[in-house]
Amino acid sequence: MTKKSADDLRSRRWFGSGPKSTEHTAHALQAGYSREEFEGRPMIGIINTWSDMNPCHAHLRERAESVKRGVWQAGGFPVELPAMSLGEGYVKPSSMLYRNFLAMETEELLRCHPIDGVILLGGCDKTTPALLMGAISMDLPTIYCPAGFTMGATFRGERFGSGTGAFRWAPELVAGNLSLDEWQTLEQKIWSSPGTCNVMGTASTMTALAEAMGMSLPGASSVPAMDSRGHQLAAAAGRRVVQMVWDDVKPSDILTDQAIINAARISVALGGSTNAAIHLIALARRAGSAFSLEDFDAIGRQIPVLANVQPSGTYIMHEFSDAGGLPALMTQLSDHLHLDCMTVAGTTLGENIQGARVVDKDVIRSLDNPVATEALAVLKGNLAPNGCVIKPSAASAHLMQHRGRVVIFEDADDLAARIHSPDLEVDENSVLVLRNVGPQGGPGMAENGMIPIPKVLAEKGVRDMVRISDARMSGTSFGTCVLHVSPESWIGGPLALVREGDEIELDVPNRTIHLCVSDGELEARKADWTPRAPHYQRGWGLLFSQNVNQAHEGCDFDILSSRAPTPEPKIHGKI
Ligand code: FES
Repeated sequence: MTKKSADDLRSRRWFGSGPKSTEHTAHALQAGYSREEFEGRPMIGIINTWSDMNPCHAHLRERAESVKRGVWQAGGFPVELPAMSLGEGYVKPSSMLYRNFLAMETEELLRCHPIDGVILLGGCDKTTPALLMGAISMDLPTIYCPAGFTMGATFRGERFGSGTGAFRWAPELVAGNLSLDEWQTLEQKIWSSPGTCNVMGTASTMTALAEAMGMSLPGASSVPAMDSRGHQLAAAAGRRVVQMVWDDVKPSDILTDQAIINAARISVALGGSTNAAIHLIALARRAGSAFSLEDFDAIGRQIPVLANVQPSGTYIMHEFSDAGGLPALMTQLSDHLHLDCMTVAGTTLGENIQGARVVDKDVIRSLDNPVATEALAVLKGNLAPNGCVIKPSAASAHLMQHRGRVVIFEDADDLAARIHSPDLEVDENSVLVLRNVGPQGGPGMAENGMIPIPKVLAEKGVRDMVRISDARMSGTSFGTCVLHVSPESWIGGPLALVREGDEIELDVPNRTIHLCVSDGELEARKADWTPRAPHYQRGWGLLFSQNVNQAHEGCDFDILSSRAPTPEPKIHGKI
């Protein structure tokens, strides 16, 4: 039974009867629509992150047309609203600097227009959390439609599906084992169609989490970008969201504490990106959930990695899709999921995965045959009082308990200038520390956390070391990289107080990270510490610096994560 009539629609405030509606009605007529095409129909906003500067989303214009087809079929009125695209490759200094910008843009696009329901079109890393964060805060009926992943590729017989996967051949180019022609062939293959990275990086992790928490139609996150099922799902989402408007089904009805926990459990079972530890907390807070980094750690201890997908495993997303995709993986975890959670499909998560099955048991593993035991661990100690994270499934087992002398890089520029210097005093037991690359220090917390192995050690065959920073790393990255140290060094966190020659002790099994310096010495260093000059004097950068919270809080703005009610816009038409 529907809960709303045409008179209850939010858009009715714009298009209702009387002189105030004249301007809005006249503009719809100006756009070429006749009255019966919009009057009394739910207006469905399609927030589209298509852009020439985001090849991962190159197909989203056509995808929007499929959404519109579905909306028209169900009696709605579709309107497309372009939004900032955040192409991961081009946006500098980091797309993370602009995640909250897109979140705010999404929320305000919806607020200021006569929108009744929403379809979100995204996929490339930050677009998924950003679109969802804005939509959660606006709390209109919403479905998230992922872009899908690019075509997979092989090079010299090895499969890969991201820039990080390709860059592992860079030393071969430097060593003369690859010709320039071969390198250009590799470049051509990295992303050989529109769509997101073809591994379990941040994009695939976050689109899967959107589905796991109930915000996408079943199976949507496991469909390749160029697969016609993407258009079918887009049209289905268009039809479904119109019904959600009449039924008044909003994100607040879907995103319960249990839905967030489902998403976290799926994240670790996927061997998902460490970036999920930031984005999921931000999403949870927008939804009013108290889900925390500590909760993520507890889940990381309980649930092993089941998806045998790079970077934690062997295969790429196409093979994961062919093996049954996310619905099949969820059947392996069904005892650990809240199957009664409602989803945007109007069915429960349990109903959505009925009939799903694992087609290839090497790609999607069972709980008694996992790929790895832990995808995410949260460490605390005097170096990271509010926590930091590591991805054990993509790290070296022999470095999980390690103590070493630190080699410090003051910032990303210092790192670039000295990391490959033949004079760098470093050995394979050293602990590389990179600071001033956090949310404020970066600025924008770029993916600098996979600090390169110094050339002097790489030439000796060293392939991994303990590396610590307040940065993030790409979801496609790997290595014994401790990330997201909180509080960050830029604001005087303990990472700022580390000095050359100190030792740091990492103990992942016991979840500790310790700077081997006395409390008194740390207090004295803190008294000596002086902040650096601010990056920005004006504009978005200043707004970001003044409002962004720390990694363990999701790097949201406090003014945006607040659940305080925001009034609907006043409408005074021209009379
Ligand atoms: Fe767009 Fe990887 S660069 S998803």
